[in-house]
Amino acid sequence: MQRIPEETIEQIRTSNDVVDVISEYVQLTKRGRNWFGLCPFHGEQTPSFSVSQDKQIFHCFGCGAGGNAITFVMDIDNLTFQEALSKLGSRVGVELDIEPQTGQSKIISKEETRMKEAHIFAMNYYHHLLLNTEEGEKALLYLEERGFSRELIEQYKIGWSLPNWDALTKLLERKGFVPVEMVECGLLIKKENKNEYFDRFRERIMFPVQDEAGHTIAFSGRVLNMETQDAKYMNSPESPIFQKSKVLYNLDVSRPVIRKKSKVIVMEGFMDVIAAAKAGIMNTVATMGTALTKEHIHKLKRLTDTVTLCYDGDAAGFEAAKRAAQLLVQEKIKTEIAILPNQMDPDDFVQQNGAEAFEKQIIDRPHAFLSFMMMAARRNKNFQFENDTLQYVQEVLEYFVGNSSPVERDLYIRQLAKETNISEEAIYQQFRKVEGKSIKQQSRQQAPPIAQNIPVNRKKVQAIDRAEKLLLAHMLHQVDIVDRIHQEHGLHVFIHDSYEAIFVRLIGFYDTYPQADTHRFLEILEDTDLRNLVMEATLTERDPEHASEEVSDCLRQINKHRIMLQIHEKMHESKEAEKSLNMKRALELAIQIIDLKKSLSVI
Ligand code: GTP
Ligand code: MN
Repeated sequence: MQRIPEETIEQIRTSNDVVDVISEYVQLTKRGRNWFGLCPFHGEQTPSFSVSQDKQIFHCFGCGAGGNAITFVMDIDNLTFQEALSKLGSRVGVELDIEPQTGQSKIISKEETRMKEAHIFAMNYYHHLLLNTEEGEKALLYLEERGFSRELIEQYKIGWSLPNWDALTKLLERKGFVPVEMVECGLLIKKENKNEYFDRFRERIMFPVQDEAGHTIAFSGRVLNMETQDAKYMNSPESPIFQKSKVLYNLDVSRPVIRKKSKVIVMEGFMDVIAAAKAGIMNTVATMGTALTKEHIHKLKRLTDTVTLCYDGDAAGFEAAKRAAQLLVQEKIKTEIAILPNQMDPDDFVQQNGAEAFEKQIIDRPHAFLSFMMMAARRNKNFQFENDTLQYVQEVLEYFVGNSSPVERDLYIRQLAKETNISEEAIYQQFRKVEGKSIKQQSRQQAPPIAQNIPVNRKKVQAIDRAEKLLLAHMLHQVDIVDRIHQEHGLHVFIHDSYEAIFVRLIGFYDTYPQADTHRFLEILEDTDLRNLVMEATLTERDPEHASEEVSDCLRQINKHRIMLQIHEKMHESKEAEKSLNMKRALELAIQIIDLKKSLSVI
């Protein structure tokens, strides 16, 4: 892809007023010098989202979102820098010659573009067959019986594929699509030993799948006649445009609602997502016939930190929910699990009990993670058998370690005691044993806990955060400060990884751009969280006349904090050494701690 000249970037930035751009998404009212509105990046009742016309920036005091007009469009529409620039360019009559892209800063090949075009073509063809032809009548009737309104069918562009072997093949050829590419993206299949092709999907109800930018990239086809030997669903294979471990069905449509509600509902099948849509619940996504992956979670994490799992109520659904929930908790997501009764899936439940019941009884009444894990552990166990009981308690206590607060433990241990008839004290004792074992294992497996995990008291955290932010603020405005600090201290100047990441990028930025330019720097940061930190730093009050003193002061505070952390770590390690009766090591550590404390007093 060609580079966009800096002058053009500058022109597009200066001719798109930040207030105008944001007003297209958020209702803003003027108060004093600034404009205010409800933040589109998190659900809120009172406006804490502010836009400054003078500075051409926005900032949310509630969630920390911030940036300029270009990064606003990147965040809200999930676009790359080039795409956002192109969009804002068209607003002011500057047309950039940029191909549409998906995903983050990925360069899209011509081949992928053609594959997506073929998918749009196939989608419209299948959709037409379902709605307007005799061949599609049976399928249409089936969908109507399952409660699909015409509107829903049109909204999700559902279709029908003919039983013929080459209906789509012929059309795609006539349109000039290259058969080899059509095979690669899964629409066609090549006959063995022959240079001939046939349609992958035949005689199936066709559900198109979109990526997060709304491009159609795959299909799932459902058989109409359940008597056949064929699989109930046939999905497109993995291809350059369709990777199951990354794609979440409906994310393109649900993204703004997820943001608004600060919550996403994850389901097992796209049929369930459509069923939820019938019930007016729109903040939903589904995986495409695979388990939830870390990549899926990272996509969701950019939008919200709360996930409700709503999986099928059968044994398989329970197991899948258990795995997904553990992965989510590992990724620090607030996880709740909505449970369906009697082996039903969300779609069945909506059919049987209606939309309102689904929302009120299921979605709005999820189980907390621990309570769900207890329920899952209880399945298939019989407390008449001692073995089952002990195993149950052990399993539950293992979930508690690292995942529960004292209050939660109190609550659930009382429940455990009631269920199993074991005394609370005995369960507490067992808990401490499980916990001790896990801590020992951890300290054997891992290096000492990393800086961020050490609980330091809140006031200090805030002080160190302020020091890091102020230091960054100076760096963002003065190239020489970055140069000097880089030369004197290397790259490890900040305590927190995000600041270090920004610092490293800033050094690179000043290699290319000799002058400080916070707007341009914001735009090259690909990570929203980093952008928000930069934004906060630019808003921090600093005194340019006394920059040097302020910078030294920040460095001193950071240095002090780093030593405190080291002392903390060593004290922890020394306790461990004492416990395992390694007195030599404990003594060594004690001496090191004294030295560190001494060095602290001279800073
Ligand atoms: P209905 O039976 O039409 O109500 O669909 P459902 O959503 O209840 O389907 P189910 O719970 O059986 O499956 C959930 C998801 O798993 C589907 O959306 C598919 O992605 C996948 N899946 C189910 N059956 C098959 C199959 O036979 N083959 C493949 N490849 N995937 C399947
Ligand atoms: Mn179903």
